[in-house]
Amino acid sequence: MRVAVIVAAGGRGERLGAAVPKQFLPLGGRTLLARSVAAFRQIPTVREIVVVLPPDLAAEGAALLEPHSGGADLRIVAGGVRRQDSVARGFAAVSPDADIVLVHDAARPLVGRDVIERAIGGAARWGAAIAAVRAHDTVKEAAEDGETPPIARTLARDRIWLAQTPQAFRRHVLAEAIALGERGVEATDEAALAELAGHEVRLVPGDPRNLKITTEVDRRLADALAAAEADGQEGDGEPDEAGKLRRDGPEAREAPPMRIGLGYDSHRFAEGRPLVLGGVRIPAERGLAGHSDGDAICHAVTDAILGAAGLGDIGTLFPDTDPAWKDADSLELLRRAAAQVSAAGYRVASLDIVAIAETPRLAPWREAMRDNLASALGVDRAVVGLKGKTNEKLGAIGRAEGLAVHAVALLVAARAAS
Ligand code: CTP
Ligand code: MG
Repeated sequence: MRVAVIVAAGGRGERLGAAVPKQFLPLGGRTLLARSVAAFRQIPTVREIVVVLPPDLAAEGAALLEPHSGGADLRIVAGGVRRQDSVARGFAAVSPDADIVLVHDAARPLVGRDVIERAIGGAARWGAAIAAVRAHDTVKEAAEDGETPPIARTLARDRIWLAQTPQAFRRHVLAEAIALGERGVEATDEAALAELAGHEVRLVPGDPRNLKITTEVDRRLADALAAAEADGQEGDGEPDEAGKLRRDGPEAREAPPMRIGLGYDSHRFAEGRPLVLGGVRIPAERGLAGHSDGDAICHAVTDAILGAAGLGDIGTLFPDTDPAWKDADSLELLRRAAAQVSAAGYRVASLDIVAIAETPRLAPWREAMRDNLASALGVDRAVVGLKGKTNEKLGAIGRAEGLAVHAVALLVAARAAS
C-alpha cells in the first residue's frame, strides 16, 4: 500500500492575523508546518508528501521546511485562492501509483500517529475515512446569519461529529471529489465533495488535541498542549467521558523511554548467488536465496529495530512485490529503516545478534560486519554484538541447507538519550 499525503499550507492565516501565515509560526520550537510534515514522516506506508504553499512562497519552500534524511519524498507546489484549489493542485502533483491519498491541514500540527493510522486504515477498508471528534456541546442550528440569531432547531448531539484532518481516500474517490469541485461545487473539506460525488465516507476517531489553529486562543491552547507533551505529562490520568484513560492519543508523543524489538530471518543457500552477510561479501560457492541480496543478518536487524519502534517490519517498508527492492543492498534497506526509527524519535542503544550457520565460519568477517551495521545505524561499533553459532548438525540448518539469524535491539527515546 502506497500512501501519499497532501499537506494544505497555502492559506494566509487572516483570522489569526500574524505577520506571516500561521503555518510558519513557531509552536514549541518548530513551525506548525514542520510539525505537520514530521507527523506523517513517522508513518512507514507514507511514500510521498506534497506540501502546498502560498504561490509567493513556493519558490523558497525548501528553505521553509526542515532538512530531513530518509523516509518519504517531499514535493512542494504552489497553492490556489481557496483551500480546495490548493488541494486540487496538490493532488495533481501526487504520483499515479499512490493507492491512498490523505489531505491534512498544516494548521493541525498536533496530529498524532494513531489518528493518521486510523484514517489510512479506514480509507483502505471503506474507500474514504476522515478523522472526527464527537460534539460535546449541545448543537443549535441558527435560523439566519448574524451575531444573535434565533435558533431554528436543536440537533441530536449523539450523531454530531466535528470533522478534522487527515481525511483519507482511495485515489479514485479523491479524484472524483476534486473533479466535482472543479465543476464549481464549493466545499470546506474533501469529505463533503466525496459525499456529493456519491461515495460513502466513514468517520474514524480523531483526537481533541488535533485542533485546528484558527485564532489566537487556539494558538495558546496548542502551545499549552505542546509544552505538556514536551514535559511528558500529556494525557496523564485524565479520564474521558467514558471513564477510560485517554491513552490512545499521539503515540509518538507518549513514547516510552525504551523499547525492545526482536528480529528473525532465515534463508536457504542457493547456487549462483553471492553470499552477503552483515553487508560483507563472503567468498563462497553458494549464496542466499531471496528477493533482495538475501542478507539475513541485515534483515533480522531491520525487523528488530522496526519492531521496537512500532514501525511494522521489513516487508511493510520494502515489499518483496516491489521490483525496486529486487537484489537490493540490504545494508541500504537497514540504513533507510534506521532513518525511520530516528524520525520516530529513537536511537539504537544496544543490538545483539546470533547467526546460526553450519557454514561459513563467521569469525573472520565478524568485525567487518559489526562496522557495517554500526555505520548503517549511526552508532558506535561497541553497540553491536554479533555471535556466530553452528547448529551442531541438527536439522536443516545443521545440514547447511540454509542459515538463520536472531537479533534483539534496544531503542531509547532520542530525548532521553541526549
Ligand atoms: N489553505 C490552503 N490554501 C488556501 C487556503 C487555506 O492550503 N487557499 C490551508 C491553510 O494553510 C490551512 C488549511 O488550509 O492549513 C485550513 O485553512 P484555514 O484554517 O482556513 O487557514 P487559512 O486560510 O490560512 O486561515 P484564514 O482562513 O484565517 O485566512
Ligand atoms: Mg481559510
